[in-house]
Amino acid sequence: MKATMRLDKLLAHTGYGTRSEIKLLVKRGAVSVNDKTAKDSGMQVQPDRDRIMVEGEPVAYRQFVYLMLNKPQGVVSATEDTRDRTVLDLLGDEYAHFEIFPVGRLDKDTEGLLLLTNDGKLAHNLLSPRKHVPKTYYAEVDGAVGADDAEAFARGVTLDDGYVTMPARLNILHGGNPDQGQRSIIELTLMEGKFHQVKRMFQAVGKKVVFLKRLSMGPLVLDPALRTGQSRELTAAELEQLVQAQRWQEG
Ligand code: URA
Repeated sequence: MKATMRLDKLLAHTGYGTRSEIKLLVKRGAVSVNDKTAKDSGMQVQPDRDRIMVEGEPVAYRQFVYLMLNKPQGVVSATEDTRDRTVLDLLGDEYAHFEIFPVGRLDKDTEGLLLLTNDGKLAHNLLSPRKHVPKTYYAEVDGAVGADDAEAFARGVTLDDGYVTMPARLNILHGGNPDQGQRSIIELTLMEGKFHQVKRMFQAVGKKVVFLKRLSMGPLVLDPALRTGQSRELTAAELEQLVQAQRWQEG
């Protein structure tokens, strides 16, 4: 946590309003720092040392938030969009002041695990191509997915732009029979995250993904209790595992 910061910034980040609203709060003597009424909303404070109160209530400041979202189809993994609803539109107002963004992207028609945070450093590390954070997807695929596809994915397949994928693990839960109108049901674990990668890997072996959902990212597993569109904060244990993963998964 930052050693010192402006009082108005701290209060704005904790949800007490805009800087001008906070200025008014301070002006009417509603804010105290270490039991002294604050006079200047721009004064420097130490968030982890100073006792800050608003209208007699202690201020619980925290710099970062970490949320797990079960992304539904039809919303985009962006912070703003002129046409579509974004994943941020699914969060409660209590998160509005945190400047949260999605860690990576899921396609508009992909569901499942999306991490949202305002911790740029953690996000950067998790997304770094050097870290090889594994991501597991559940997919329904038109066509009969078989052992030959698993072997091709284990070796690496060539995508439409010539890129050869890193070895990926394909687990066939149900090899569908297209003649009977059945889809194949699979899980695929990737160590990288190229644009539309799952869809393009199946395209490379002549098959089409018709439903895609992310189940996990590194140690973080989608909570089965979260319905699509719902989110919750990570537990302390989940966050600790994630921090460890982004530290050590180099190479
Ligand atoms: N691969 C895809 O094709 N789409 C996603 O949303 C994620 C991985």
